[in-house]
Amino acid sequence: MKKVLVIHYSQSGQLTEIVKSITRPLLQSKKIELVFEELQPAEPYPFPWPLIKFIDVFPESVLMEPPEMKPFLFDADTRFDLVLLAYQVWFLSPSLPVTGFLKSTKASVMKDVPIITIVNCRDKWLMAQEKVKESLRRIGGKLIDNVALVHQGNPITTLITTLRWLWAGKKEGFWKIFPPAGVSDDDIRGAERFGEAILHALETGEIEKREPVLKGMGAVKVDADIIQQEEVAQRNFFVWAKILRAAGRQGEWKRLPFLVLFMLYLSSLILISIPLSVVFKLIINPLRRKALQKKIEYYEKPSGSSILHK
Ligand SMILES: Cc1cc2nc3c(=O)[nH]c(=O)nc-3n(C[C@H](O)[C@H](O)[C@H](O)COP(=O)(O)O)c2cc1C
Repeated sequence: MKKVLVIHYSQSGQLTEIVKSITRPLLQSKKIELVFEELQPAEPYPFPWPLIKFIDVFPESVLMEPPEMKPFLFDADTRFDLVLLAYQVWFLSPSLPVTGFLKSTKASVMKDVPIITIVNCRDKWLMAQEKVKESLRRIGGKLIDNVALVHQGNPITTLITTLRWLWAGKKEGFWKIFPPAGVSDDDIRGAERFGEAILHALETGEIEKREPVLKGMGAVKVDADIIQQEEVAQRNFFVWAKILRAAGRQGEWKRLPFLVLFMLYLSSLILISIPLSVVFKLIINPLRRKALQKKIEYYEKPSGSSILHK
C-alpha cells in the first residue's frame, strides 16, 4: 500500500476541484491510501475580499511570515511515498495558509519524500514557485514535478475577471468578451491525466527514483512575456513589503496610509505594465530570444536551486 499526503488550501473551492480531478485516479486504486489535509488558518481569510484586507495580506505574503494555524490533523510520523502540495498564489508568493504549513515543524513530514506541487493562480506563479522550492530545499523534500493551472483569458481580461471575482464574488463571464473568472472547466477536468501518470508511477515503483513523472504532459507552460514582469515586480515587492511591515502589523491602523500608497503604486505598475509588455513582446523579447529560452527552460524544470538566492 502506497501512502500519499495531499496538502491543500482553497478559498473559492477551485483548487479543491483541481485536487479532486488529479486525485480521482488515485482514489479509485485499492493500492493507494490518500490522506487529505485541508489547511486552516486560525483566523479564516475572507472571500470575497474587502479591498483593505486584500492589500493588508501583501507584506506577510511576500515576506512569508506564517499566520497562526489550526492544528494539522495528519500523523507527521507516517512515512509517505508522495506528497501533493496544492497552493494558490498571493502576491507572487504562496498563500499565507500554505506558508503557515511550510514554516511549521510538521512540514518535516516532507523530508526525503518526493513532492509534486500543484499551483493555481491568475497567470503569475514563477516567483511563488521559486519561494516554495526554496522552502522545500530547506526542509529536505524532493520536488519532482509541478502542475500549474492558470485562469482562462488574456492578461487584460483575467485582470478584470479575477479582481471582480476576488472583490465582488462574481465569477460568471460578461459582455461576451470577458470569460468566467478562474481556471476553465476543461483544464480542471483535463488535470485528471496527471493523476493517471502519478498512479502509474506509484504502482510501478517509479516514484522511488524521485525523478519527474509528468514530463512532456504539459503540466506547466512558461509564458516568456511574464518572466520579466514577475522578476521586476518581485524585486519591488520585497522593498514595499519591508516598508509596510515596518509600518505596523496586519490589521493595525498605523499601516493604513502606507497601504493606500502601495495600492496607488500597484495600480500604476499594472497600468504601465500593459503597454510595456506589448513593447517587450514585439521589440525587446525577439532580440534576446536565446536568453529568454534559457529562462523558460529553467522555470519549466520542476527542480533546480532557486534563482531567488543566486
Ligand atoms: C491576496 C491575493 C493575492 C493574489 N495574488 C496573485 C498573484 O500574485 N498572481 C496571480 O497570478 N494570482 C494571484 N491571485 C489570484 C489567486 O491565485 C486566485 O485567486 C486563485 O486562482 C484562486 O484560488 P482558489 O480558487 O483556490 O480560491 C491572488 C489572490 C489573492 C486572494
